[in-house]
Amino acid sequence: MSNEPKKQKKEVTRRQFLAYTLGGTGGFLAASMIVPMVRFAVDPLLQDKGESEFVKVIALDKLSDEPVSVPFKMLQKDGWVEEEVDLTAWITKNASGQVQALSPICKHLGCTVNWNTEKKYPNQYFCPCHGAHYEKNGKNLAIATAPLDEYEVKIQDNYVYLGKLGPNTKVTT
Ligand code: FES
Repeated sequence: MSNEPKKQKKEVTRRQFLAYTLGGTGGFLAASMIVPMVRFAVDPLLQDKGESEFVKVIALDKLSDEPVSVPFKMLQKDGWVEEEVDLTAWITKNASGQVQALSPICKHLGCTVNWNTEKKYPNQYFCPCHGAHYEKNGKNLAIATAPLDEYEVKIQDNYVYLGKLGPNTKVTT
């Protein structure tokens, strides 16, 4: 009688072999279909937000303390949709050279404000819809409950570039 340990040979039955092979193949095929679908669904969420895009809008020497309405175009992304939109900013440059670009959208209900058009409120932004008015830096004085939003500003080669729109940083409420 031999003392050699008995080698245990594990045999894979034909049924097991088929189950492993078909299961593996099926899993691989399912993954290859599902992964791209999931990626497509969440793609905008995975996009690198990165630095916001800036758009060249006006030469610095065209600006003064008196607000000017400057139209410009900006590419805006909303999920999968990317389109060029027409925008406007009221831009000033104060005595120390600081540039501010305000949104013309009234913070009451979204009408468009204009500069210095209402006799009762000289040198202010005025909204013709319900009478909201704002100081030159965008501070809300009546009706509206928040200051005018402002664009990010970048100066490069004596030109003004505008970026994202956000809450007014020059006004404390
Ligand atoms: S929308 Fe401007 S005052 Fe109402």
